[in-house]
Amino acid sequence: MAERIVIVGAGGFGRETLDVVEAMIAAGEPLQLLGVVDSGPRPVDLGRLAERGIVYLGTEEEWLPTAAGDERFVVAIGSPSVREAVARRLSNAGLRATTFIHPRAVIGSRARIGDGVVITSGVQVSTNVSIGDHVHLNPASILGHDATLADFVSVNPGAIVSGNVIVESGVLLGAGSVVLAGLTVGAGATVGAAACVTKDVAGGTTVVGVPARLLEDRATP
Ligand SMILES: CC(C)(COP(=O)(O)OP(=O)(O)OC[C@H]1O[C@@H](n2cnc3c(N)ncnc32)[C@H](O)[C@@H]1OP(=O)(O)O)[C@@H](O)C(=O)NCCC(=O)NCCS
Repeated sequence: MAERIVIVGAGGFGRETLDVVEAMIAAGEPLQLLGVVDSGPRPVDLGRLAERGIVYLGTEEEWLPTAAGDERFVVAIGSPSVREAVARRLSNAGLRATTFIHPRAVIGSRARIGDGVVITSGVQVSTNVSIGDHVHLNPASILGHDATLADFVSVNPGAIVSGNVIVESGVLLGAGSVVLAGLTVGAGATVGAAACVTKDVAGGTTVVGVPARLLEDRATP
């Protein structure tokens, strides 16, 4: 029987996630997309859903009381902290998350992949990689061998996580950023777009540039 699925988030990543689901269905995966939930959708996004024939199920508050309970969800919201809050509310309401992997993603041997994960087209995951729950891997991002990503991590397009890197929970790795081998990016940190991380990053901080420095220190030679 087809898995009944709901995507939470009608914005850019929500609709990229729809692309993943549509590609999985085209490849023969038994999925039935019920629609998209969003608590503050922009009219332009609702228009884009309608254009492709996707049902808008309403806000979280509108949809939850109507849910049958067997739906599986993915939270397709880019911000790690917002994604975490929504995922926790839905789990507390008794719903279970599912994981979507685009057929054109390459997943290496012995990868461990959690629930609520979205892996988009062109992603490459090497061997012995561990991916926590509710992680987003955006197009063309790369995870090196033995990398560990905790829950609620976002890896934006084209970012590279080298071998043996540890990415703690709620980290956002900006588009095109690189984290060099063996380093740790602490919980809740943000790595700016195009940064090259050459040292461990402390939790909750933002680093930018090449080599990456704390945002407030970036002008320091
Ligand atoms: C690093 C980042 C989180 C900072 O965001 P922010 O806190 O809103 O910062 P601001 O945009 O106000 O910029 C603050 C300063 O940092 C600089 N800055 C911002 N992002 C930078 C980056 N990636 N690299 C170098 N400098 C950067 C700005 O030029 C600005 O400098 P100024 O004070 O000299 O004018 C953000 O710019 C970023 O890179 N996010 C990742 C975005 C991404 O991956 N997008 C793709 C989505 S699919």
